[in-house]
Amino acid sequence: METVVHKLPSFHIINPTSCCSTIRSPASLRVGLRRSSSSLSVSASAVREGDPALGTVSLGHVTRPDFPILHQEVNGSKLVYLDNAATSQKPTAVLKALQHYYEAYNSNVHRGIHFLSAKATDQYELARKKVADFINASESREIVFTRNATEAINLVSYSWGLTNLKPEDEVILTLAEHHSAIVPWQLVAQKTGAILKFVSLNENEAPDIEKLRQMISRKTKIVVVHHVSNMLASVLPIEEIVVWAHDVGAKVLLDACQSVPHMPVNVQSLDIDFLVASSHKMCGPTGIGFLYGKSELLSAMPPFLGGGEMISDVFLDHSTYAEPPSRFEAGTPAIGEAIGLGAAIDYLTGLGMQKIHDYEMELANYLYESLVTVPNIHIYGPVPSENVKRAALCSFNVENIHPTDIATFLDQQHGVAIRSGHHCAQPLHRHLGISASARASLHFYNTKEDVDSFIQALNDTVSFFNSFK
Ligand SMILES: Cc1ncc(COP(=O)(O)O)c(C=O)c1O
Repeated sequence: METVVHKLPSFHIINPTSCCSTIRSPASLRVGLRRSSSSLSVSASAVREGDPALGTVSLGHVTRPDFPILHQEVNGSKLVYLDNAATSQKPTAVLKALQHYYEAYNSNVHRGIHFLSAKATDQYELARKKVADFINASESREIVFTRNATEAINLVSYSWGLTNLKPEDEVILTLAEHHSAIVPWQLVAQKTGAILKFVSLNENEAPDIEKLRQMISRKTKIVVVHHVSNMLASVLPIEEIVVWAHDVGAKVLLDACQSVPHMPVNVQSLDIDFLVASSHKMCGPTGIGFLYGKSELLSAMPPFLGGGEMISDVFLDHSTYAEPPSRFEAGTPAIGEAIGLGAAIDYLTGLGMQKIHDYEMELANYLYESLVTVPNIHIYGPVPSENVKRAALCSFNVENIHPTDIATFLDQQHGVAIRSGHHCAQPLHRHLGISASARASLHFYNTKEDVDSFIQALNDTVSFFNSFK
């Protein structure tokens, strides 16, 4: 076995905090951070699939050269990026699209008649068309650009929710929802008197679909569910849920943040009413996300935010509003970011979403099978089997070691980037009897070698902390 020398002298005491993580690791185990400046060395030779000299290479090996950020050292080790559920990395094609927009045709949209404005408008609207095609919406006007998925959920909860919910109406969610799917509905429930009902987990640690089916009744007005859990890695049977909801006249809002970047999603075959996703998790820029809504639903919804772009006519005492999607896009939108998202969609489509999904399923199994070998580990979510598929992520805890210590040590000693905290799923963590977990999450540009490096580093981390006991 290889001897690993720990670079402890470079540690300094810190108080680790993070926006979403309120977890404090035990003081005795808290290690300090002094970030060495990362050295960037982009691998020049792109590995191409099917190269006879290399034999069969994976999608991860094929696509890694497209992501400059992956080719660097962090804290003296080769970066292994396994925090993709938080945000994905961006391929050169997206970086170039952003740069080209700002260098060649930066201008405001929908307002000017000059060349630059017309081009920016065309490209912005083309990006909308790309999003629509990507999820098979029947028309572009069913896509509303928002800042992120969170804003898209708020748009639906305020605009649709305040108009359609009344006291005693029920909104059904699972307790595995992300905070961004829970809090907006709490706010709207407080204003309308609607009741939020949460589906718990089954014995396999996945949301209990049978309970969800039983909970749906004539009182149900909307079901708000994730497609793929960002903590449990479980996948919900959305087609069935939509049928149950529609049977009682309820709508379904699908949080597709962890599915749209990783698998084909077809809003028409799912017959979903609303869907939200964030560009930054699908290899696009931050600052842009989208809402899909069936056009008859969007047309009947009042504005969410007021201002320029969303109006038809403005008088001193009242205004009339534009048709969707403009009605919901007040002010200057994130133009470059939308165009960057379009470039990300071109990139993903070029690879093929089914191919991405198939490869990630292989990685998901490999990650799970490798991780269960770590001593005293508990992996959350369903145990995979012939009938139970997991996404390519694992949230876990190792007995008597705080997840923040694990994440810090992996980063400091091995250049492995994972997440620790509650992953914006506090009710779920509470239900599982924990306040935090560590999470490794993969994307198609990861490889089995990344998983091997992570497991080796994790074993080293566990040995290090156990050596104090
Ligand atoms: C399942 C799920 N829903 C919603 C969100 C919120 O996404 P954003 O912060 O981009 O709005 C996330 C992000 O982590 C997520 O994983």
